[in-house]
Amino acid sequence: MEPSIYQFPDVFRRVHMEAPGDIEREVRFLEEVWRRHLKRPVRRVLDIACGNSPHGQILARAGIEVAGIDRSPTMIAAGRAEATGLKGLQFYRRRIEQFQLPEKSFDAAFFMSETFPIMTRNRDIITHLESVAALVKRGGLYCIDIDYQGEVELVRTRTLWRERTVQAGDAQVEVREYHRPIEWHEALHSIYELECTIHFDDRSIITRDLIPVRYFTPPLMDLTARASRKFEMLAAYADLSLTRPIAQCYGRWLAVLRRV
Ligand SMILES: C[S@@+](CC[C@H](N)C(=O)[O-])C[C@H]1O[C@@H](n2cnc3c(N)ncnc32)[C@H](O)[C@@H]1O
Repeated sequence: MEPSIYQFPDVFRRVHMEAPGDIEREVRFLEEVWRRHLKRPVRRVLDIACGNSPHGQILARAGIEVAGIDRSPTMIAAGRAEATGLKGLQFYRRRIEQFQLPEKSFDAAFFMSETFPIMTRNRDIITHLESVAALVKRGGLYCIDIDYQGEVELVRTRTLWRERTVQAGDAQVEVREYHRPIEWHEALHSIYELECTIHFDDRSIITRDLIPVRYFTPPLMDLTARASRKFEMLAAYADLSLTRPIAQCYGRWLAVLRRV
């Protein structure tokens, strides 16, 4: 099997077109949302699919206790190395679909990087919400970052979507993104294929990640929260803004759920 881009933590950020300051902006927005919707201080936070937990590292430096879960040992190892000497940031190797942690409850949880829609089975989404709910205090918030899914067309054959070349340190990376066909009766919105050819000085490696993306809009998230009986949806914010109308969303939106 070809390796995954997540086996190359230093490269994946460049591949995902993250710009300097993006993570800081996301953390500031989360803090704005917490101030607006949670009338008590946030002292403990759960970072879901944390990778190396760049958000958690910023929050932990500000004195907040953070626990992150991720399935990738490589991403977790990168996070632990970056957070050496930083108190209050714990990593756990867990799958997001269903998990438990030996931790006290949290004031808030978040799931960034538009990764939530990779959970495509109803059962996984419900057990995921139950797992998060078991760790979040009543009245606590769960913020979920979701990609704008407005313009992806259904395809009949594997179709190149876009390609580019990026520099990640000394490595040059050819990035190709494809859409794959899906069955009409699936809950899926698309299947996204990410192919990266990484040219290191001494070798080249091709990574391939197949990422099923479930269709999630604000009303569907509201329904999902209600179905879990653990959360209610309070708000949907477009593009890291508290004021932009959701109809004008162009990149991503944030679902704000409250633990009931
Ligand atoms: C795009 S990265 C985001 C990492 C981090 N939140 C950030 O903003 O940099 C997505 C992460 O989701 C993790 N992931 C994907 N599927 C997962 C699953 N089923 N269970 C746990 N982690 C998963 C990957 O290992 C990866 O670290």
